[in-house]
Amino acid sequence: MVNSMEHTDIKQDLTGDSGDGGFLDEVLAGLSKSPKTLPCKYLYDEKGSQLFDAICELDEYYPTSTEEMVLRDNSGEIADLIGPEAQLIEYGAGSLQKVRILLDSMEAPAAVIPLDISREHLMASAKTLAEEYPQVEILPVCADFSTPTSLPEPVGNPEAKKVGFFPGSTIGNFTPEEVINFLEIVADDLGAQGEFLLGVDVKKDESILRAAYNDREGVTAAFNINLLHRINRELKGNFDLSKWRHDAIYNDDRGRVEMHLVSQCAQTAHIMGQPFEFTKDETIHTESSHKYNIEEFVDLAKSAGFSSLQTWMDKKSMFSVHYLKVA
Ligand code: AVI
Repeated sequence: MVNSMEHTDIKQDLTGDSGDGGFLDEVLAGLSKSPKTLPCKYLYDEKGSQLFDAICELDEYYPTSTEEMVLRDNSGEIADLIGPEAQLIEYGAGSLQKVRILLDSMEAPAAVIPLDISREHLMASAKTLAEEYPQVEILPVCADFSTPTSLPEPVGNPEAKKVGFFPGSTIGNFTPEEVINFLEIVADDLGAQGEFLLGVDVKKDESILRAAYNDREGVTAAFNINLLHRINRELKGNFDLSKWRHDAIYNDDRGRVEMHLVSQCAQTAHIMGQPFEFTKDETIHTESSHKYNIEEFVDLAKSAGFSSLQTWMDKKSMFSVHYLKVA
């Protein structure tokens, strides 16, 4: 049952592609900073979302397959912790693939509330999920999950225990300060009895990280460059795409992979007629992907009011899945 329209229709469209000034304002602000930045949430227009799905299939991009393996290998234990008749609130739901691993092992799941900024993708994924799991209420909410949002209550069981689900290490795309802010929002959403299952990528050999974000086929490069296409198309930009290249580096001091767009020559680009100058080799920082050792992340979660109930990893310690409880 997709009880969707009432929830999606009342939400503001935050994708920035339908007259919303957010995209323009944030792009102008980011490119006026030194060093220049662009918010990573704008990487995910329709094309960007397709490219991200393709990244997840790459051999070099280990997080997706490794997290799936950790979830599958421990699905019984995870389902026991979640308990019967719970509702799952998935943050940044995307194609809703991994939630199926949980639903398949949970006892009588009550509802799934997927939150995502990309309305069409969300509605299509929610519809398919509802067809596959007709006994589970599917209540999609189109919203920016990093800001407070009011959640619908499952009709069948409004008291169902709330368990947040945030796979994919998307939490790594926040700064540590933003993580605390986000976890506080999640704690509010989930309430005093709430629990939170999330994937967190871990620190590892730099060569593995560099390969994961600079893949041989150039899919990650296309994903990054697509942001300039989007600016050209939606914000009357005139970036010459042949003069930009993708690079991803590991910033050891900050424990994060950074994606950059590198200007290959001195050049000027205009957005809505406003000029922006770039020197040769100057970069626009488009995304950070923070990596955490287990203890580092547990400490961070503690400072946002969560305690750790369990952590799982794969055999090679490439990726972690944490089960937290609102303390
Ligand atoms: C969505 N997010 C967790 C991905 C990451 O690894 O930071 C986005 C991504 N960027 C480049 N490759 C994948």
